[in-house]
Amino acid sequence: MKTITLQGLEFEPYITKQQIATQVKRVAAEINEDLDGDDAPLFICVLNGAFIFAADLYREVNLPHSQITFVRFKSYDGMCSTGEMRQLMGLQEDIEGKNVIVIEDIVDTGTTAAELINLLAEHNPKSIKLATLLFKPNSIINQVMPDYVGFNIPSKFIIGYGLDLDGEARNLSDIYILSKDKDADDLNLSM
Ligand code: IMP
Ligand code: MG
Repeated sequence: MKTITLQGLEFEPYITKQQIATQVKRVAAEINEDLDGDDAPLFICVLNGAFIFAADLYREVNLPHSQITFVRFKSYDGMCSTGEMRQLMGLQEDIEGKNVIVIEDIVDTGTTAAELINLLAEHNPKSIKLATLLFKPNSIINQVMPDYVGFNIPSKFIIGYGLDLDGEARNLSDIYILSKDKDADDLNLSM
């Protein structure tokens, strides 16, 4: 993996596709175990960022009759969280009495996840769980805690594997970090 440049910014390799695949499998195994014997879940993928993680995660889920659907929100503008969420594509399915698992690419401030969970809760699901590939625990400002996390990461800007900079770079198989954000002290991943 080489350094890449996007919008004049340099990004460095951070998480490899092999590391991602390992954690996707581990998260799916946790979900398979937790929901084994319970009602089949409805996965809700939060577009756009989560589409690649959701596709990989859902294929590792082996719960019969599980389903997946999609909603679309936007809270980021460029590299900054706007702090306010716009709903671009709402939920069509009836979730009353269902086990719902929200799939996010990343939980940063937690604004998107918290608002979506509040919105879903109004429709009386049996349970709501949150699965995210990436979690920035130091950025969280909302009362939301993911149930399933691929990687805990520092509050740095990253791209690839669904994560974008102004719509670009979602198709990178590996995850890259903004070079100027990279300092040796706090780049430890935990899983
Ligand atoms: P939150 O509402 O602040 O938790 O932000 C959630 C959304 O912000 C995610 O679904 C991403 O779309 C976006 N986001 C947060 N951090 C990053 C990042 O490091 N790179 C790219 N997008 C990000
Ligand atoms: Mg997103």
